[in-house]
Amino acid sequence: MAITFDESNKIFKLDTAHTSYMIAVVDEEQFVGHVYYGAKIRMQDASCLMRTFENPLVPSVNNRERCSFMDTFPTEYAGHGIGDYRESCISVRSKAGHSAVGITYRSHRILEQKPVLEGLPSSFGECRTLVLDCMDAALGLEVELLYSVFEEEDIITRSVRVKNKSADDIYLTKVYSACIDMDSEDYEWLTLHGSWARERQIERRPLSHGKQSVGSIRGESSHQEHPFIAWLHPYTTQTQGDVYAMHFVYSGNFTAQIEKSQFDSIRVTMGINAEDFCWKLEPEEVFTAPEVVLSYAADGLGTMTRNLHDFYRKHMIRSKYAHTKRPVLINNWEATYFDFNTEKLLSIAKRASELGIEMLVMDDGWFGHRNDDSTSLGDWVVNEEKITGGLKHLVDEVNKLGLKFGIWVEPEMISPDSRLYEEHPDWAFAIPGRIPTLSRNQYVLDLSRKEVRDYVYDMISGILRSANIEYVKWDMNRQLTDMGSAALPADRQGELYHRYVLGVYELQERLISEFPDLLLENCSGGGARFDPGMLYYSPQIWCSDDTDAVERLGIQEGTALIYPLSAIGAHVSVCPNHTVGRNTPFETRGNVALAGTFGYELDVTKIPEEDQKMIPEQVKTYHKYNDLVREGDYYRIASYRENHEYDCYMVVSKDKKEALVTYVQVKGRANYKSRCIRLQGLDKELDYRLEGTEQVCGGDLLMNAGLMVENLWGDAGSRLFHLTAEGK
Ligand code: DGJ
Repeated sequence: MAITFDESNKIFKLDTAHTSYMIAVVDEEQFVGHVYYGAKIRMQDASCLMRTFENPLVPSVNNRERCSFMDTFPTEYAGHGIGDYRESCISVRSKAGHSAVGITYRSHRILEQKPVLEGLPSSFGECRTLVLDCMDAALGLEVELLYSVFEEEDIITRSVRVKNKSADDIYLTKVYSACIDMDSEDYEWLTLHGSWARERQIERRPLSHGKQSVGSIRGESSHQEHPFIAWLHPYTTQTQGDVYAMHFVYSGNFTAQIEKSQFDSIRVTMGINAEDFCWKLEPEEVFTAPEVVLSYAADGLGTMTRNLHDFYRKHMIRSKYAHTKRPVLINNWEATYFDFNTEKLLSIAKRASELGIEMLVMDDGWFGHRNDDSTSLGDWVVNEEKITGGLKHLVDEVNKLGLKFGIWVEPEMISPDSRLYEEHPDWAFAIPGRIPTLSRNQYVLDLSRKEVRDYVYDMISGILRSANIEYVKWDMNRQLTDMGSAALPADRQGELYHRYVLGVYELQERLISEFPDLLLENCSGGGARFDPGMLYYSPQIWCSDDTDAVERLGIQEGTALIYPLSAIGAHVSVCPNHTVGRNTPFETRGNVALAGTFGYELDVTKIPEEDQKMIPEQVKTYHKYNDLVREGDYYRIASYRENHEYDCYMVVSKDKKEALVTYVQVKGRANYKSRCIRLQGLDKELDYRLEGTEQVCGGDLLMNAGLMVENLWGDAGSRLFHLTAEGK
């Protein structure tokens, strides 16, 4: 039973395979308290964990100290302005101008499935859901707290629905999605920070008193911080120690915060960033807060990683490509930038097809009169001066060469130099009286407006219908500013950031509904919108504009900490690398890109002959291992980020009969012969043959003593080791 209710003690218990989460309804006023989250335990009256027997006691016993009770009570959803001075989850502006909110339990329901979160991406599939129906009687605000339990993956998801049951409008000024209060022990916190070309770098540091948070007010989940937060012990490693995590299924502004209180308890909160958020809720209207994914693992970060990978593969990625090999693509961005035409693309496609590559993707610059980044976004009409003979001709010719065809679009944007802007300047976000802020020469379309969404959809879908286009790269190359909509009244301008994200979701939903066979890859100036929300629409996301193999080790380590390898867009590009100027062996660039969707981002007619010759072998390697890489269990063995010398990770099949180890020796090492690397995740009873050798070793030996890896000559050498169980 995933959800049980002990009626006499008023305790709810949510169980996954290895974890329990307990909630209690407390005191005559029916406060909703957080009792426990951690390793699986039996059902029992654990309400003592909430310390309601200590001073100041519950209000029915000692209302003199109501404020102290409120400020210490571990709650499931923190109210605002009524005595709890820690971070609140919800606040309002009522008709009378007040901001306070406090919710208490009314009733509950246990559902056999996952309720759909209207207009939002959210997990699906087999699970049970507890709905706690709560109320703020003074405001007439109904608040549903939703908890869905995914037993097998040890995941609990949370979200919140708020309904206005009063006769007046209520303005929601903050609605977070999840809150957990617990004793702090000696936790550290872990987040993923970054920048353009440096996304999702793992950062871990001690927790201190007060508030520490990461967030985005950039209108997207962002390069800079990631909607993910973990708290863990200093001794937690890949293979041991507690780790808790929250991950936000949302692609816009967010907050992820841990507050350590005066009594050393912590409150972890996650939700839409309250800055610039104000949602008008008319009587009987409902606001739904996006989903948060909760994870707890008792045995280290590796288990958290594998649980999240399984969860996203099974319960978030809907695409028909979720569990299939993706075509090996070649993208012309780093090959040509804006300087291309039909002839050039066909020459790349021709050579690519000879080498075994399976799809050509035409990137930015095929429409309007766009020859650099200063024009034409919004004018989604093929530039026949470049694409001579038209798009259909190009696609047909590419198809004749045996390649599929994919296209790049950036539907959310508008260039000031465009026909669209001439006709509809008010379709761009702008604040009257202010000079709108350009970024990469472009403005952002007001996707809160239906007519704007319809225009964008008609243009893009028209292009897709005009030729045999099997893949779309949906890009978004600037962050949001000047949040003013010409269509919204003054008291709804605070809804704009969220309405924009809902608009993006609606557009992508329409696209994949009309074109269910389309392979969609999301992208945002590299990996600025790599989040679980986008995974609901696209099975893969471009990870970073930094394609250097060494830089990618860190970026892909941080990304793979929480996302399955099947979702990580990774390509081989030329050297010196266009972002960092580094030279790395072609072989290593290929080996690193194998831990993702795999493809090329170069002019295959121009790279050295010896590199070209390696491509057929790399494509073969991709096909040989992709089922394993895409569906297997990922183990992080060593991190170049930590040891400054080498990187190593492996993927093990679910039946443990096959494994692929990737080793990259980033720095050449003087006077060493070999290094012994302890593997993980194998079956200790099985014997494994190391492909290409006569060597057979027990899983027990490989995990306890290790795999001997020869020292490699030079920098950034790499090796793949393929292990298969004897008798497989
Ligand atoms: C940013 C993307 O990340 C690149 O791959 C490329 O598509 C450019 N945009 C095109 O403008």
